[in-house]
Amino acid sequence: MIDMNFRIFRFDPEKDKEPYFRHYTVLAEPWERLLDCLNRIKWEQDGTLAYRMSCAHGVCGSDAMKINGRCALACQKLVKDYQGTEVVLEPLPGPGFPVLKDLMVDMAAFFKTIELVRPFLNASGTPEKERLQSPEERKKVDEVIRCILCACCVGACPVSNENEKFVGPAALVQAFRRIFDSRDNEKDQRMKQLDYPDGAWGCVNHFECTRVCPKEIPVTKSINLIKREIQKSKLS
Ligand code: SF4
Ligand code: SF4
Ligand code: FES
Repeated sequence: MIDMNFRIFRFDPEKDKEPYFRHYTVLAEPWERLLDCLNRIKWEQDGTLAYRMSCAHGVCGSDAMKINGRCALACQKLVKDYQGTEVVLEPLPGPGFPVLKDLMVDMAAFFKTIELVRPFLNASGTPEKERLQSPEERKKVDEVIRCILCACCVGACPVSNENEKFVGPAALVQAFRRIFDSRDNEKDQRMKQLDYPDGAWGCVNHFECTRVCPKEIPVTKSINLIKREIQKSKLS
């Protein structure tokens, strides 16, 4: 077991005037995750600490936070990779993520951007059998299907951090999933909806979203493919 040192952002809007950081030390095995440390802190040292978690296996996307300055999932980060350093934990950054308490942020604005792009298949009519898709057609959306809506990309995006109107990388990934789905009937409307300065064109290729995505989705590349498709549709 090794000693792990944490500096954790604390803020309870009901009683604190200002946010502050609190230090914790916890024993952990090298193969454990930072989320295990957080749980140990909460369960054994300080029950007032607030954060979200559920699956603990990189599936639900609920424990996204800033870890040593970088947006990530606490359940995916191994203790051994932080041995000998102080781990600084902060909530997801940006105007779109107001702090509810400690590491827990309000995700309402984030999910509004997802709703905006209508994240569901629109295939009209009632088919007589299942809607078929060839392996090649499916391949086009294979990578974006991995999105778990953790919001790390939005927290890391410099444009989202400055401009709340930018639809953001996560919503664009969700839009990509439908625009390039061979079974969807709304491709043209979806592209028209994103063809404005704070839509697909708001992305200026910082690549931060791609660097932090815990599911290794090529976010920037996907956004650029949407832009290309919009341009192609205007020329045809
Ligand atoms: S694209 Fe990646 S970082 Fe963004 S919400 Fe989806 S899984 Fe999270
Ligand atoms: S590539 Fe686009 S969406 Fe991703 S971080 Fe940069 S500006 Fe934001
Ligand atoms: S707790 Fe579910 S992704 Fe980390």
